Amino acid sequence: MQKEYSLHSRCGSSRIFLDEGLERLGPLAGGRRTVLLTDERVHALHGERFPEMEVISIPQGEQAKSLGRATLLYQEMIRHKMDKASLLIAAGGGVVTDLGGFVASTYQRGMGLGFVPTTLLAMVDAALGGKNGVNLGEYKNMVGTIRQPEFVLIDPSFLQTLPRKEFISGLAEVVKYGLISDPAILDLLEGKDADEVALDGDLLAEIIDRSVQAKIKVVEEDEDDSGVRRILNFGHTYGHGIERLHDLSHGRAVAYGMMVALALSEKLGLLETGVREKAMRILRQLELIPDIQPDRERVMEIIARDKKRRGDRIAFVLLRRPGVTEIVPLTPEEIAGHLEDTDL
Ligand SMILES: NC(=O)c1ccc[n+]([C@@H]2O[C@H](COP(=O)([O-])OP(=O)(O)OC[C@H]3O[C@@H](n4cnc5c(N)ncnc54)[C@H](O)[C@@H]3O)[C@@H](O)[C@H]2O)c1
Repeated sequence: MQKEYSLHSRCGSSRIFLDEGLERLGPLAGGRRTVLLTDERVHALHGERFPEMEVISIPQGEQAKSLGRATLLYQEMIRHKMDKASLLIAAGGGVVTDLGGFVASTYQRGMGLGFVPTTLLAMVDAALGGKNGVNLGEYKNMVGTIRQPEFVLIDPSFLQTLPRKEFISGLAEVVKYGLISDPAILDLLEGKDADEVALDGDLLAEIIDRSVQAKIKVVEEDEDDSGVRRILNFGHTYGHGIERLHDLSHGRAVAYGMMVALALSEKLGLLETGVREKAMRILRQLELIPDIQPDRERVMEIIARDKKRRGDRIAFVLLRRPGVTEIVPLTPEEIAGHLEDTDL
């Protein structure tokens, strides 16, 4: 069902269209000089579906999120005679929306920007909230801006061509929203495997809709990452640690991080009975549980360097029950101690 939400924050407002077709892009561009930024794979699969406009296509993959690539894009924009009044539409996964958002926010100190997310992760997470950025060598998202795109157009039909692995990876963020914000998402997912979710259009539309609403709610409450927005890091602190050590999809790393956060929540006597088991059933059925035995000491070393650290403590997002989080400052030693005799 077509729906429109709005997201308001100090760094601008976005109109977010759900289940919307690409023909809407013409009216949204409103006669402005417009360039479509996309990656080679999305362009090959879906390029013809977009209205006629200039296209800049970048190589697919995380390496494109760099200052070097941003410089090449600024030069392309000059060549296309783009100015502040022009519009950049970034259509792709989180790499394209992050890079496109950064370039549009900085080119001539800011030009028009719209997103068409084409991965599940970008639809429910990366394209929403206004955080854009590029990596600096091995440092992820080190240079960036916070600025809301004018619009985000979500057309779930893009997901039909998304590789299964990428789809499953995106589902981890959906489970996260179920745990931190909207318990109904967990009920919708329980008992379903990834293929059932992918093939059930109504179910898919509903979990995207609920995830989008969850992200809007958190971002509107707190845009600068200092307070409420930190709950979006649920599963990510430990997840990022093991992502650096194991060859895992982002989704599986986050899923493992959520398992750790749930185990810690239980250990500290916060978590309602049965929640962890339910979450584990869902993650298992969605093939999100990685088969790894991480070297906990090395994970803790990486976590200790986390940029979200305050003094010697890490603000760990824990759970009381689905929809109710608690941020608990813990030292790496405390985390390691609590995890020692868990059944992870
Ligand atoms: N800004 C934020 O708030 C935020 C939040 C989460 C993640 N991110 C960023 O998002 C990035 C990851 O995003 P991602 O997982 O979407 O990865 P991605 O953009 O690399 O896309 C994954 C792969 O899927 C392909 N693809 C995209 N859409 C497709 C489609 N419809 N059909 C077939 N193939 C398709 C891409 O070409 C690419 O090869 C990371 O850089 C991460 O830092 C940003």
